Amino acid sequence: MNRKRWLPLLLLVLCVGCQGTAQAPAADTPGPTRTPEPTVTPLPTDTLQPTDTPEPADRSEPDAPIDPYVQAERLGRGVNLGNALEAPREGEWGLVLQESYFALIADAGFDTVRVPIRWSSHALNEPPYTIDESFLARVDWVIENAFERGLNVVINMHHYDEIFQEPGEHEERFLAMWRQIATRYRHMPDNLYLEPLNEPHDRLTPERWNKLVVKVIDTIREVDGVHTLVIGGAEWGGIQGLSKLKIPEDETNAIGTFHFYEPFLFTHQGAEWVEDEYGTTGVRWPAPPETELTPIPAALEVPWIVQWFEAYNTQPARYNPCGPQAITKELDWAVRWGEKLGRPLWLGEFGAYSKADMQSRVNWTTFVREEAAKRGFSYAYWEFGAGFGVYDREAKGWNEGLLRALVPQE
Ligand code: BGC
Repeated sequence: MNRKRWLPLLLLVLCVGCQGTAQAPAADTPGPTRTPEPTVTPLPTDTLQPTDTPEPADRSEPDAPIDPYVQAERLGRGVNLGNALEAPREGEWGLVLQESYFALIADAGFDTVRVPIRWSSHALNEPPYTIDESFLARVDWVIENAFERGLNVVINMHHYDEIFQEPGEHEERFLAMWRQIATRYRHMPDNLYLEPLNEPHDRLTPERWNKLVVKVIDTIREVDGVHTLVIGGAEWGGIQGLSKLKIPEDETNAIGTFHFYEPFLFTHQGAEWVEDEYGTTGVRWPAPPETELTPIPAALEVPWIVQWFEAYNTQPARYNPCGPQAITKELDWAVRWGEKLGRPLWLGEFGAYSKADMQSRVNWTTFVREEAAKRGFSYAYWEFGAGFGVYDREAKGWNEGLLRALVPQE
């Protein structure tokens, strides 16, 4: 995976090369005005929804206009229920959601759960792309349990890996799945939020994604006039991708979202699913470290990583790519892109993997949470009870340091 490889490079350029000079991560040129999309020719409804095609009158409508800024603020402190429903089958990644988790999460002071869901593993590959009823029932159960504990719920579409490689071929299926999801949940309370796609990337380029955003909004809004949409940018849903995101102006009930894992060489050190050059463990936050760290051979083969470690080992905090200012600069860019987008922003994922030492994880998580809160962002930590876990399922207890980082004691 080439995941987020450009991001650390960008940070390096920003924080090391130019020592204090304000640098833009990308030219702030206004994007071209959105060409209105031709209305999508609706597919024959009997091929999409043989049993459950809603009549137009079935479109849910809000009792009063919904303010996305209020909706974004309401998300408050959140946590991702990662590694469960976005595994190919729930349980395959070691985590099966339990009723008790919802009480734990609510009692600990969280307001929101984000539920990553791999719908694409549970839907027909051919029209009408029907989503398996028992899987839908499982998602119903998650939403109901969260609501019973007073938690807001964001459901997304996660790991639809095929659409990132063949966006054209998968568009019809993507929209058909969203039509079914939106139809099923259209009468749910408005503290259910819908996030069309997690971290678009690869061939689902910013340009293609912006076009698909128009279509998925149309599809959802045909049946659901209530639920706030949560939309991230392409290029893995980071801050850079956010800068290229366009949401049609007539969609007023939408929040922008971004994910934050900077510096990646810290948050993803030793993570099994990223490239070998990220394998140097012992990276601490904040840097510089007391003892110099020698990168592993795979890291030494990549020039920007060599430079990154040189700076990591030697630069004072202010200029260190693994220091506080590297983070605040990035978050300031998020604020800027949010303003350009004209939408409130939600930090939908951030976290540091368990191969980093716990004190550094707590330091980083505390700092990112505080800086996000200063900028008015609600947030959701990645994630509850697996490799980034704020909750330790084996010990059956919270990782107190991480929990306090996320839900400070007042
Ligand atoms: C991915 C996870 C991954 C996490 C951190 C998420 O968006 O879906 O698989 O663990 O980001 O890399």
